[in-house]
Amino acid sequence: MKKVNNIAVLTSGGDAPGMNAAVRAVVRTGIYHDLNVYGVMYGYRGLLTDDIFPMESKSVANIIQRGGTVLKTARCLEFYEFEGRQKAYENLKKRNIEGLVVIGGDGSFNGAMKFSQEFDIPCIGLPGTIDKDIAGTDFTIGFDTAVNTAVEAIDKIRDTADAHDRLFIIEVMGRDAGYLALHSGIATGAENILIPEHTTTVDDIINDLQANERRKKMVNLIVVAEGHEAGGANGLAKRVKEKCPQLDTKVCILGHIQRGGSPSTMDRILASRMGYAAVDALLEGIHNVMIGIVNDKVAYTPLDKAVKAKQEIDPEWFKIVKILAS
Ligand code: F6P
Repeated sequence: MKKVNNIAVLTSGGDAPGMNAAVRAVVRTGIYHDLNVYGVMYGYRGLLTDDIFPMESKSVANIIQRGGTVLKTARCLEFYEFEGRQKAYENLKKRNIEGLVVIGGDGSFNGAMKFSQEFDIPCIGLPGTIDKDIAGTDFTIGFDTAVNTAVEAIDKIRDTADAHDRLFIIEVMGRDAGYLALHSGIATGAENILIPEHTTTVDDIINDLQANERRKKMVNLIVVAEGHEAGGANGLAKRVKEKCPQLDTKVCILGHIQRGGSPSTMDRILASRMGYAAVDALLEGIHNVMIGIVNDKVAYTPLDKAVKAKQEIDPEWFKIVKILAS
């Protein structure tokens, strides 16, 4: 087995609460094993611009509880080009960096995969995204915090909806995945949840609303994933207002509030375990995999599989939503 001496860590794509806890775990585990650990600022962009610096144990002090990412993040178009990746490789090579830990979502893993295929730099991916849209792990870093943030906001919306007998259509993030909507909707007792993975049509929603109105149930919360084909909360509200103008309908888009805040206990623990496992994998010579936690055990998924596959949503969930919100 090749001895590893120098590794680097970066955060890429949309930030997610718990990324700092993961960076801390990578740095401290690396130092524990006598490795030199480098931090890369602004994700792949920092690899290209040579924004790379040595990290010490104290570089990651007091960050486990902080949202965002101390390494900053960016979406870097140049890294999609071979020339960009070559520049990145040269900057790693001149420091003899022999392993790269990428904390990010599927777009970031795509970059890591290409990079590791073209150049001899082993990459380990840690799933850091509030969307939970990556296969090979039960949870992604940031998802639990984002759901809790959404739940807190939706609970508040229910208070005012209840006071006015209103229909609220609440949009949550998730890109083209519906996990944030599904989990926050179930946890807040939403009357309907619309996600891209499940075919609920606007007509279904209107039928439900009319049925609720007939039985004098005027408070309705609909949680819609931003990626649903109805066109998010505004698209859905437009159609509902056309068909049910008598309903007092309001829209609330939760937006980037879901990305911030102090990570939950679950995210801090998940990130700490994954960061530790990433360094372990590099030392064991396990390369080009994503670290996941499946059934409470560390699992490795080849980066290309993590990129291509999505987590599936069991249709049973929709039965549960229907029964519990009736
Ligand atoms: O992938 C995380 C995420 O927050 C998605 O849920 C959302 O669609 C997207 O990033 C927003 O990206 P940006 O902050 O670049 O607008």
